[in-house]
Amino acid sequence: MERLKSGIDGIDDITGGFPIGRSMLVTGDAGSGKTIFALQFAKSSCKQGFKTVYITTEEDASDLYTQGESFNWDLKTFTDNNILSFTELAGIRAKVTEAEMSIDIGAMKGNFSKFINELPEDTQTVIIDNIGSYTAKLTPYEFRDRFDLLIYELKKRNITALVVLDSATSSEFNEIALFSVYGALKLMKRENPYTGRRERVMDIVKMRSTKTPTQFISYEINSNGIIMI
Ligand SMILES: Nc1ncnc2c1ncn2[C@@H]1O[C@H](COP(=O)(O)OP(=O)(O)O)[C@@H](O)[C@H]1O
Ligand SMILES: [Mg+2]
Repeated sequence: MERLKSGIDGIDDITGGFPIGRSMLVTGDAGSGKTIFALQFAKSSCKQGFKTVYITTEEDASDLYTQGESFNWDLKTFTDNNILSFTELAGIRAKVTEAEMSIDIGAMKGNFSKFINELPEDTQTVIIDNIGSYTAKLTPYEFRDRFDLLIYELKKRNITALVVLDSATSSEFNEIALFSVYGALKLMKRENPYTGRRERVMDIVKMRSTKTPTQFISYEINSNGIIMI
């Protein structure tokens, strides 16, 4: 199976990278580093020459550039060279009033795959950060249906995807998103029983056709982004 380097060295050393044409899920609490992970993956994908689309639902592109700059990542050069593009769904959401919201969400219902249909033909890599913004009022059955269809359509187009899902939404739907995807990672903070300090750990929950560790992997976020320790 061909792989695309995730851009996080520790993960690439262990797994060889993310399987091309398949979808990976990243879940985690607020501040756990999901967006940084997603940006680091986007950068890596561009560097490897893959046409990459980053769909952002919570921050606008300028905030993501700024986040990248804090790690000395020059994402602008990628967008200037048309290898990377941002689709902002954050602004649209911010504009709708609560009354309009239910209509808007209603229109979005069943339409995760709308994200995919509107992608340029030559898209090779897609990042959706955070799909949890578009699940309001779905029942767990509907969520599973829509999510499965999204993953199916991505695969049909041979797109390598990283789907971010906040842990609150993931647990609201009983973690069923974990079943549809080819691989899943969970970003967490936990207390180290020996030091009493809180540390960041990652669980590679699954990656099909790949040997994965059962232990948590410690990581930190420093001036280079996400680094395994
Ligand atoms: N330049 C940086 N250096 C070190 N840590 C950073 C830097 N930028 C952000 N962080 C850390 O990353 C956290 C935000 O990560 P983010 O990926 O936005 O989380 P999530 O998307 O899971 O909510 C911040 O709260 C901070 O702890
Ligand atoms: Mg985020």
